[in-house]
Amino acid sequence: MAKIVLGVGGGIAAYKAVYLLRALMGEGHFVTPVLTESATKFVGSVTFSALASEKAKVSLFEDSDAIPHTHLGRSADLICIAPATADIIFKLANGVADDILSATVMASKAQVVLAPAMHEEMWDNFAVQKNIKALSDAGYMIVPPAHGSLAAGDSGVGRMAEPEVIATFVRFALVEESVNLAGKKIVVSAGGTREAIDPVRFIGNRSSGKQGLAFAKVAACWGAEVVLVTTNSVSEFPRVRQVLVSSADEMSEAMHSERAHADLVVMAAAVSDFRVASFSSSKIKREVRTNMTLELEANLDILTSLTSSESGDCIYIGFAAETDALEENLTKKLHSKGVDIIVGNDVTKPGAGFDTDTNSVTVLSKLGDRFSLEDVSKEAVAVKVLALAHTMFERS
Ligand SMILES: Cc1cc2nc3c(=O)[nH]c(=O)nc-3n(C[C@H](O)[C@H](O)[C@H](O)COP(=O)(O)O)c2cc1C
Repeated sequence: MAKIVLGVGGGIAAYKAVYLLRALMGEGHFVTPVLTESATKFVGSVTFSALASEKAKVSLFEDSDAIPHTHLGRSADLICIAPATADIIFKLANGVADDILSATVMASKAQVVLAPAMHEEMWDNFAVQKNIKALSDAGYMIVPPAHGSLAAGDSGVGRMAEPEVIATFVRFALVEESVNLAGKKIVVSAGGTREAIDPVRFIGNRSSGKQGLAFAKVAACWGAEVVLVTTNSVSEFPRVRQVLVSSADEMSEAMHSERAHADLVVMAAAVSDFRVASFSSSKIKREVRTNMTLELEANLDILTSLTSSESGDCIYIGFAAETDALEENLTKKLHSKGVDIIVGNDVTKPGAGFDTDTNSVTVLSKLGDRFSLEDVSKEAVAVKVLALAHTMFERS
């Protein structure tokens, strides 16, 4: 459980802050709503007070607490402002502390998560962009606004991220490994490739893509721009651009083109080792057959082809699914695949590997790091491995 100050600015999206409050309370946090005076014009403070851990704060001077901003600021583990108006963004970037919310942030050393919300013209305004950049550079975690419907029937970029997305940013801001990946480009592959036999059939595997998606989300929450090369389409997530592929060949092409200027490549996809030697362009009929033999030919090893053609200082993370001699096989793969970090799944363990929400892994790096995680969420694996990759950025 963390102590969270939920700051609410005066924008139409203030009603969505009520859902965010419920989500944070549902995760077991102690949440104190802090509303600007303008926010109370959009949603009454009573609604927040009734749902929160304690009464909503709306004034620097009229509360029973004589110095509310320092008490709130010092005791908070995290401050999340949603919606963050152009006005509050300006105040925070310029050291203005003339209301309870801006004064609380100024009196705090806690991590701040900001979810801006405004009309597209306001969001594009040079002053707003300058202030957002200043806050991002100072380590504030920004939840980028989405494209969608805005107030008064307008649409464009500026719509506040959905409450569950902001709650995900808060979750990954609260982990102790949280690092700032702003300015980094990360390419992640996810899911199982499909090798077509004919127009309706394919050879596939049981990979769900959950581990790759977890990497993409954690990295995006920590500020990286992420490209997710995936065989399964996933819901939109801020800073994650999806590239849908199907076969190993398509994945290879996408990975080679997307890794340009990447700082980190995470190869979490389960790529088929073989493909069908001759694809049948019409559906193979059963009628006259009593059996059938498919001839297969080897696919390219995407990871090795990426690392062997690397000329810069991109870090590569590979995955290996093993059924025996995990540590020995991992050490071999760390070197033979030319990766910086290898993550090994023992897929014989219950709750590990394909199509589960949890995983058990052993992680080795070429700099000698080694750790194991038993029966943890795939998000927890992503957190630990990305934190290790971050230390490697710093050591290189
Ligand atoms: C109907 C209405 C909707 C508004 N929506 C937004 C908004 O979505 N984002 C924003 O930055 N400002 C919006 N504003 C302007 C802010 O309310 C105004 O800048 C105010 O001073 C913000 O105060 P605060 O930052 O202390 O909450 C809106 C104003 C009105 C009247």
